[in-house]
Amino acid sequence: MAIVTLILAGALAIGIFGIWTVYLQWKKVADVKSRVSALEKKNGEEKSKAEKFPDPDPWWDFDLKTATTRNHVYVNKTLRYPYFQTMAHQAMHVNDWIEIDKDFEWYLAEKKRAIAEHGLFVLRSSHFFILNLFILNNSPGKKVIDSLPENDDACGELLEILVDWLPKRYPTLFESIDCEGGGIWNKVTDEKFEKIDGRSGVDALMVISRLVQDDFLMAKEREDGHVYFTGGLVGFPGFYLLSEKINLSLHDTHAPVPQFNEKLLLSVERTLKRFTPDEPFERTSWEIVDDRQLHFHAIASLESGKQLPEELHPKDLWFRVDHQTFRKLPRSNGIIFGVHPIMKRLEDFEDSPLVPALLAKIHEDSSKILMDYKVAPAYQERLMPYLKEMTTRQIERGLIK
Ligand SMILES: *[C@@H]1O[C@H](CO)[C@@H](O)[C@H](O)[C@H]1NC(C)=O
Ligand SMILES: *[C@@H]1O[C@H](CO)[C@@H](O)[C@H](O)[C@H]1NC(C)=O
Repeated sequence: MAIVTLILAGALAIGIFGIWTVYLQWKKVADVKSRVSALEKKNGEEKSKAEKFPDPDPWWDFDLKTATTRNHVYVNKTLRYPYFQTMAHQAMHVNDWIEIDKDFEWYLAEKKRAIAEHGLFVLRSSHFFILNLFILNNSPGKKVIDSLPENDDACGELLEILVDWLPKRYPTLFESIDCEGGGIWNKVTDEKFEKIDGRSGVDALMVISRLVQDDFLMAKEREDGHVYFTGGLVGFPGFYLLSEKINLSLHDTHAPVPQFNEKLLLSVERTLKRFTPDEPFERTSWEIVDDRQLHFHAIASLESGKQLPEELHPKDLWFRVDHQTFRKLPRSNGIIFGVHPIMKRLEDFEDSPLVPALLAKIHEDSSKILMDYKVAPAYQERLMPYLKEMTTRQIERGLIK
């Protein structure tokens, strides 16, 4: 009797196992089928979407004298705890692509200076050969503005899109010029640029440098299926130079960034390759820096283990938020990574409930590798007591509990 039960139980178990195995096989096939059809559907949609670049809404009562960017510190989690590397991006409304603030003219002047001092650009063509030799001997490359031949079309396309977008979004600051090849009038600086069609490469980037505060790092997917940096106008990188990134893959440029290649590379690369022109997105990143030299902060060249100068009070440190925007160009398929650095003095957080407490928490408890990468050891000992004082004052004032 016992043996019969055992045999029956065994048969039942084998039966269940068999059905389960068959089910798993079936599910695998079904999954693959549904993935293939999703991919086919997406490819079809991509083709029809690719043409559309939505127009922004006009901002008629925009006042340049008082304009600020959106408050990126509060909304959308620029400061996060627990703090670790994530892409943390979100869909971007086309209105939010280029933000302009009251320091517009200062940024444009600083960008011009960065290009003049570090960017003496050299065309890659042969008739500039002598100039080329001269400049290469005197400056180590095109640090601010550059474009590989494969990227030149994307520069022209980006310029075209800006020339179309800016007068639509900020009609009080920009006006289209009706001339051969099209043009744009920057009414703030009173500069006019004509014959926009047909410009490309560095020539197009130079015009862009006179239109918006944002920098643009540009990338392309190459035939090997990886994303490479192929050019850009990067006046305000703060911590790196365009010349160190150009012609490198996403993987190689992120080698110094803790956890990036291990944890993020695959998904970031996939996102950059797949997103379409009508799926722009944005994110922010932050740093604490010691000055307002957007091109290259002094703290970025501090020898490792060194502290910032004694006389620098923590209230005078700067909180730098980079508003990063991502767009795909429909014609050239260029990946456009815009960056607008926004600077705030630490003492300005006096009236921002919880921000000092959150900053303190992040500095105290985040992974050491990550905070070392942010050069926190150079200022942290001085910063912490100051953040705690601010938090105490916020409690006393009833801003926080
Ligand atoms: C935050 O993200 C939402 C959703 O994507 C967006 O609509 C909003 O404008 C963003 N706010 C800021 C300040 O970036
Ligand atoms: C870019 O890098 C490749 C190797 O990955 C090299 O063959 C090529 O010459 C480089 N291009 C430029 C313009 O430096």
